[in-house]
Parts: sequence; structure tokens; C-alpha cells
Amino acid sequence: MQEHSDLMRGLGRTIAFVPTMGFLHEGHLSLIRKGRELGDNLIVSIFVNPAQFSPGEDFESYPRNLDRDFELAQKEGADVIFIPDGKELYPRNFQTYIELEKLPNHLCGISRPTFLKGVATVVTKLFNLVKPHIAVFGEKDYQQLIVIRRMVRDLNFEINIVGVPTLREPDGLAMSSRNSYLTPEQRINALCIYKSLKKAQELLEGGVNDAASIINAASGLIKSNEGTNIDYISICDPETLADMETINRPALMALAVKMGETRLIDNMILNPE
Ligand code: PAJ
Repeated sequence: MQEHSDLMRGLGRTIAFVPTMGFLHEGHLSLIRKGRELGDNLIVSIFVNPAQFSPGEDFESYPRNLDRDFELAQKEGADVIFIPDGKELYPRNFQTYIELEKLPNHLCGISRPTFLKGVATVVTKLFNLVKPHIAVFGEKDYQQLIVIRRMVRDLNFEINIVGVPTLREPDGLAMSSRNSYLTPEQRINALCIYKSLKKAQELLEGGVNDAASIINAASGLIKSNEGTNIDYISICDPETLADMETINRPALMALAVKMGETRLIDNMILNPE
């Protein structure tokens, strides 16, 4: 991988990189298209990263379909599909991790304490292997995106991080590889996640700007659906992720909800103007 990238850099080509865990859907493909647009050489990685799963999470059962992924990525114009081997990425006695001090103390970092450390570490490793000029990430995983932006600034990576808006199913559910876990009934009920964000936006437009009331309404809406379990609903500063009490400037509303065993996340920027 490094030799290929050295060669491309030597030829003056711009390398665009889209890291994924595979089981590609339209959301991933929109990132790949963005990468295609921005780079001369497009590299897509597929690696289900064990370091970002905690014991008891879905690392083993995470959906995989390499043949299909390969075909889809190729069709969207990927020049290289990089599928690293777990034992090579994490050899025995591996012991170096990237950890951020503050951003992981919010949102998903609370219920998934090793998740962002695993993400920051694997993304750093992938950056050093792929040597991209540009890397593309989805806003769907908002906290992941800003953790990576922060890390790139803090550690002086010469990589331009590009964010892509969340792609949704026609009814509004954010696309996710984990949607494949949902039963037909859970799939219908899962729509309450998006509905709660829309509701929040409506309330704000109607003049309600205190975060607690909006979170309350969102929570009520979600709980009225069978089989939902709220991990968190937060209205916070889009840069620091610190809770906001009053929405008097753009705020991030982010939430994680378990549908049975399946944990889904979504977010939206609430703008008082
Ligand atoms: P994965 O969940 O496969 O997602 C890969 C990329 O696709 C991420 O940048 C994610 O934000 C983006 N993505 C997922 N669903 C999306 C949607 N509905 N709309 C737009 N973009 C979407 O995120 C990871 O993998 C991993 O944590 C990774 C960064 C690869 C590190 O292991």
C-alpha cells in the first residue's frame, strides 16, 4: 500500500482516501463519489477494526460482504481497494494508541469508552499506510468526524479532512450497515430517531429554544415506540460537544437509541435562524 502511494505521490497525483468497515451502502458510496471528485487516485479501505469494539459489542457479528463491496467500490471508480489483515495491523505486542482528552467525554464516548480511541488509532495507521492528501468521512458519525479533524490538527497530519452530509433512506432513516440487523418491525419503529430530530427542528422554529424541553419531547416521541431504549439525547456545542441549555446559536442535536440489540445513531444541526 505504501509503495503504491509513494509512486502516485511521485507522479504528482492527489490521493483521496475513504476508510470504511465495509458492507457498503449508498452513504458509503456518496463518500466514494466525493473522493473520486477530489482525487486523481482513489483508495477505499475495508477493515472491521477490532480496536473500536468493546467486549460484548458486535465485532464478530458485524455484517461483512467483501465480494459485493469490491464490486460496488470498483463501480464507483476506486483505483485501489485496500483490505488490510487484522494480524498485520495489530501484531502481537501492539501497544500504541491515540487518545483525545476531551471530545470522547461526550455522546458515544460515554457508553462506548474505547470506541474513539480505537477509531483514532486505526485511522492514524490507515493514514500512514495510504498516505492520502484528502480523506473523506460522513457527518452521520459526527463525533468521529470532529475527533479526526481535531487529531489531524493536533498532530500535524498533512491531510485535508472532508465531511459529507448524511445519506438517508427515502423515509428519513440514516443509512447504516447496522440497519441490516433490524427486524421489519424494528425498521419501522427506528424511524422515530429521525422523527425526533425533525420534531426538535419544528419546536425550535415554533419558538421553543430551551434544550431540556426539546430533549423531553424527543425522548417522549422515541419512548412511544415499542422496543426502543435511549442511550443518550444531547443538544450541544458543535465544536466542543459540551451541553447547551439554550439554543441561541447553531447547536448539534445527537442521539443514540437501541432498537432491541441494535444501537443506531443520528444527528442534526439545529439552527435558530
Ligand atoms: P463505517 O461505519 O463503515 O463508515 C465509513 C464512513 O461512512 C464513515 O466516514 C461514516 O461516517 C460514513 N457513513 C456511514 N453511514 C453514512 C451515511 N448514512 N451517510 C453518509 N456517510 C455515512 O465509520 C467507520 O466505518 C469506522 O469507524 C472507520 C472510520 C472506517 C474506522 O474504522
